[in-house]
Parts: sequence; structure tokens; C-alpha cells
Amino acid sequence: MRSEIGNDILKSVEILNRGGIVAIPTETVYGLASNGLDATAVAKIFEAKNRPFFDPLILHIAHSDALNQIVTNVPQKAKILMDHFWPGPLTFVLPKSDLVPDLVTSGHSTVAVRMPNHPVALELLSKLPFPLAAPSANPFGYVSPTNAQHVQDQLGHKIDYILDGGSCCVGIESTIISFENEPTILRLGGITQKEIEHIIGPVSVSLNGHSNPKAPGQLDQHYSPHCKLKVLNYEELQTNSTILFYSPESEIKYWKLNPEINCNTVYLTPKNDSIEAAANLFSILRDFDKKGLSQVFIELAKNEGLGLAINDRLNRAMANRD
Ligand code: TXA
Ligand code: MG
Repeated sequence: MRSEIGNDILKSVEILNRGGIVAIPTETVYGLASNGLDATAVAKIFEAKNRPFFDPLILHIAHSDALNQIVTNVPQKAKILMDHFWPGPLTFVLPKSDLVPDLVTSGHSTVAVRMPNHPVALELLSKLPFPLAAPSANPFGYVSPTNAQHVQDQLGHKIDYILDGGSCCVGIESTIISFENEPTILRLGGITQKEIEHIIGPVSVSLNGHSNPKAPGQLDQHYSPHCKLKVLNYEELQTNSTILFYSPESEIKYWKLNPEINCNTVYLTPKNDSIEAAANLFSILRDFDKKGLSQVFIELAKNEGLGLAINDRLNRAMANRD
């Protein structure tokens, strides 16, 4: 039977209090949540997602006070960033307390924490005596969900309830910054490197952990639709090929350089705006699968600002698919 989609926060509280799993809205993507301090409840998330145990989860909190329970130290620079960007799409990797089960952190001595900027998530969290462990609510390796229907389409029969909070306004996952040593960005996401550096000065970036991936978002292939994505190149286009252009503006430039063939075109951002592009990205990739397309040519975003995080997702969605 398919899980119910609804707006019932108290029902979600009741399910989570008894160790169940609930899909929750956040500003980035929908999460698949359970009691982050209860290893049995957390194990249900791994099972529903078919997620490997080497892949640690993020704990979500509604108040900074809740940090004391789960981390042992918050460096000054991390604190400054939290004051600036929380609630919001920035996740901190910090030394974990003994209360956090090893299953949450995959045995690492650090735990990832964030405060989501979504009224429904914050209200739910404020009614719970524990943080919520929540990875994105998609089967492992597939595109992250950005509305409640996406969750039901993919995981509908495996979870206790889907709490609806509308469409996610950011649309790509949080940026992850580790304070295990010097501040290091492990995953590009909703907050850009520039925004972070504007507040605390230079940070390192380490996105590819090939031998021992710290984040699955670091795996070469991730966020993949079933449809094969290829970088747009004129030679391979045929009549009726589908092209995902960044914006109508970039489509015009492209056809000026290349004679016209009759292709189907889709735009990541009709308004040529990187925030809109990020918000649309995963929905559009899902639509390719819904339409049963086997191949789509894509134009990458400009490598700057949010475009870097968008291209990171697109490159991983394209990897190892030849
Ligand atoms: O925006 C988001 O972050 C969403 C929403 C639901 O909050 N969540 C999300 O979770 O994207 P997930 O599980 O799909 O990605 C979490 C990432 C993983 O790549 C995981 O490896 C990394 O966080 N992570 C968790 N704990 C870590 C740790 N101790 N050290 C390094 N990376 C960690
Ligand atoms: Mg994910």
C-alpha cells in the first residue's frame, strides 16, 4: 500500500516517537527522517533507501541548544557560520558525542548537523525531544526528491507517512563543511563557497574522496536518472533529440553557432536565474524518466556560484554511463 501524503505534524510526531520513519520537507530536498539517537529507527532509513552503511547521515535540529547533546565542540568559525546561515542549507561536520549512534556516522568520530530553513520541518523538530537523522528521501544513487509526490513515486510503500511541505525552494542539497581539521567543503550545495569565504575567509574544498568517500555525494556516479545524460555537442544531435538548455538565452547563442536541427528543448531556468535553475534541476531530471526518454543532451551551467553545485550534480549524473 502507498504511504499517505498529508499535513499532519502531530501524526508525524507520534510515528517518530515510536521509532517509525517519515518523509519530511526541507528547503533543499525532502528527507527520510527517524529518531537520530535510536539506532533501530535509523536502521529503517538505510533499509528503505537501500543505502550502504558506509554512508553517514545528517542530524537535523531546530535550535542551537540541541547541539550540546550531539557534538563535543563547536569551533569559533563554525559558530560564526551557524549564526549567519542557520536555519539554512549549510551542514557542519563536527566531533560527535557518545549519544550519537555509530550507525548515524558510519563509525566516524564526527557527525553532520544542520538546521533546515523550512517552517514545517522546524515545527516538527521543535515538538520532538531528539534530532532527526535524515538523508534525502530517494533510493540510493537516484535523483533527490523536491516534492512529496516524488517521494511517494519512489519510496511510497516503504515509509510510514509523507509530511507535505510543498516544493523545495532551494532544490539541491545543503553544502557540507567539515571542521574535523581546517574548514573544508565536502559537498557543494545551497550555500556557495564565496558566501562562506565572505564570512570566515579562505576554506579548502575536497569534493572527491574516490578511495574512501566521506560523502556519497562524492561518489563519481550519484544523483542519476535512468535516462542517459550527455554533454551537448552538435555532431551527435539528430532530429528529435532532446536538449536541456540552461536558459532560453543560451539556446539562442547555441543555434547561432550551429545550423538548426529539429530538436525538443527544455530549459533549466526559463528566467536565466541560478536559484531557479537549482530549484528545477531534480524535477526536470525525473521528468525525463517519466517521459521514458533514453538520452538527453545537456548544457552545463556557468562554473560560478550555484552553477558549480548544479554542474557537480550533472557531472555525477553523467558519470560512468557510456
Ligand atoms: O540538504 C540536505 O543536506 C538533505 C536534507 C534532507 O537535509 N540531506 C541530504 O542527505 O542530502 P544525504 O544523506 O543525501 O547526504 C548527506 C551527506 C552524505 O553525503 C554523507 O556522506 C555526508 O552528508 N555526511 C554525513 N555525515 C558525515 C561525516 N561525519 N563526515 C563526512 N560526511 C558526512
Ligand atoms: Mg542524497
